[in-house]
Amino acid sequence: MNGRITISDLVKAKRDGRTLAAVSCYEYTTARLVSQTDVDIILVGDSAAQLMLGYDSTLPATMDLMITLTAAVRRGAPNVYLVADMPFLSYHIGKAEAIRNAGRFLVEAGAQMVKIETTGAHLDTVRAVRDAGIAVMAHIGIRPQRISTIGRFRAEATTAEIAMELIGLAEQMVNAGAGALLIEGTAAEVSQIITERTEVPVISCGSGPGCDGQILVAPDILGLTEGKPPKFAKAYADLSSQSAKAFSAYAEEVRNRQFPDADHSYHMKAGEMQRLQELLGHKP
Ligand code: KIV
Repeated sequence: MNGRITISDLVKAKRDGRTLAAVSCYEYTTARLVSQTDVDIILVGDSAAQLMLGYDSTLPATMDLMITLTAAVRRGAPNVYLVADMPFLSYHIGKAEAIRNAGRFLVEAGAQMVKIETTGAHLDTVRAVRDAGIAVMAHIGIRPQRISTIGRFRAEATTAEIAMELIGLAEQMVNAGAGALLIEGTAAEVSQIITERTEVPVISCGSGPGCDGQILVAPDILGLTEGKPPKFAKAYADLSSQSAKAFSAYAEEVRNRQFPDADHSYHMKAGEMQRLQELLGHKP
């Protein structure tokens, strides 16, 4: 695709039955690599709080952190469709604050859409942000920012009643103006029903193959995540062990004085060492 991917391209992909590939990533170098591939969408997820900063939840992500990371990702990936995650408390307090914070992602960081973890209580917020001219991805299913009220995450919509609620919530979000949906950790059958009943692109995060696109976090794709990855994640490389080997080899060469060698050092111009020794009072 030539030029920057836009929301029209994503909607057309859905209509044409072309599956969208999305990656959650947080910094310039990874974004640059992603942008050299066929990945359509980068989400700068608030999982950065865990995977970049080592917190045990997404809650400590702040607006300033997310703006800095989103702007870095945009510099690395100028043409990818860029979605920024609105962090905890950035859209909960009032509609005006939600619009101001969402707008910062477009103006200061080059995002094209913001993602909001939504319940029915956020319908007015989604409508207000969209009415301000800011595209919204409504995140439904498992919503990690609700850890305090849930305690631990379980697959969503595994019963018919909860599935009906989720299908209803998805419909309400689209009616409120959501331009895309992200469904996390939800029964595949239910995600497929939502996808088939919805005009906007639906991205699955661990919600089965029946959606319009898939998303994984870059550290899972690269095999960099610590501990057991989630059931739905798949590693396409083993950069953890490759990185550990590279750091060990470096440390060993430093200790053996093999690194840096002459090729990795700067040198004085020809004849300048002799002049320096004379200046230092050393006779040749
Ligand atoms: O924060 C994030 O990276 C996300 C994805 C896992 C969907 O929300």
